[in-house]
Amino acid sequence: MKKILLIGIFLASLFAQQSGKELFEANCMACHATKKPQNKKDMTAPAIMGVMYHVKQRYPNKADAVRFIVDYVKNPSPQKALCPSVKRFGLMPKLDLDDKTLTKIAEYIYDNYPPQGFKHPKGKGMGMKRMGMFN
Ligand code: HEC
Repeated sequence: MKKILLIGIFLASLFAQQSGKELFEANCMACHATKKPQNKKDMTAPAIMGVMYHVKQRYPNKADAVRFIVDYVKNPSPQKALCPSVKRFGLMPKLDLDDKTLTKIAEYIYDNYPPQGFKHPKGKGMGMKRMGMFN
């Protein structure tokens, strides 16, 4: 009995302490790839570095970017969208996550994407664009 209780507490603390990375992987990565996809036809959403590139263009400041992401995930709309991806993928579905979880995720993706040295392909015919990573 005691053992079960301890396991329960252990599991509860695991859930309570999920990092931004784990939360991103659990809730966002199914759609937002972090790497070049095997096949761009498998993509259902823009890769996360592309998303964050656009978000940071508009909101370079971390607090503003985090506020935008938290709001967008709870309530996506074509009017709010910064990426030109809505046309290609359709609108992101609304996700039912609390602000605390979303803030952790938003801070994590702000801190880690796009990776250093990332250049958004602007011109036509550039590699990343051709691969369909970005829109
Ligand atoms: C079911 C698939 C799906 C999941 C899960 C998902 N997204 Fe998205 N997301 C999309 C699609 C599709 C778009 C592009 C269309 C759009 O902007 O609404 C998008 C766009 C975005 C954008 C860019 C909005 C803009 O300015 O254009 C952000 C930011 C974003 N997602 C964050 C997240 C975060 C954070 C999570 C996890 C909590 C997440 N998404 C989970 C499908 C998803």
